[in-house]
Amino acid sequence: MRLVLTLAFVAVAGSAFAGPDAMQTIMATHVNPAALAFWAGGNDAPDNETPAQAKLRWAAALKGAQVMQAWGPILQKPPYTRSGQWNADAKYMAELGKAGEAAARGMDTAKAFEIGGRLYDACNECHKLYVPRRGATIPREAPPPAP
Ligand code: HEC
Repeated sequence: MRLVLTLAFVAVAGSAFAGPDAMQTIMATHVNPAALAFWAGGNDAPDNETPAQAKLRWAAALKGAQVMQAWGPILQKPPYTRSGQWNADAKYMAELGKAGEAAARGMDTAKAFEIGGRLYDACNECHKLYVPRRGATIPREAPPPAP
């Protein structure tokens, strides 16, 4: 009996993993924090940031760029892939992650800012098409305003 229950639980957990809940979790725990960390690279440095803090900020931006490269291809495959524009948006996000990684390695604020703007477009394009109800409110924090 216990075995049967365990199997049923695994089946439910498995289907939840592939469903919309999974997308929300992926976004909230991986993609969104990664994007915020990357955007912080292109932002003005916080007041009185020490060189050590700047190094940490750029290291986080670099890691964020890598996370987007990792998730882009996963979102293009089952169980996450969807018809239409979906894969192109996920691919664009990964490409920007790659370009962003180079900018973060060079601690290039201007370049990170420019890539960050395009990244914002990649997020929004997918949200506009696939999250119609909530698309207007995500990403939850906007990238820095244009100079
Ligand atoms: C390929 C499509 C796609 C791309 C690209 C994409 N998202 Fe999403 N995102 C979704 C979908 C679908 C949801 C809705 C999930 C749900 O709640 O069902 C979502 C939801 C979210 C949410 C809400 C999570 C929550 O807790 O409700 C945030 C925040 C978010 N995305 C941030 C981002 C950011 C930032 C980027 C770009 C770096 C991005 N997304 C790129 C498809 C995408």
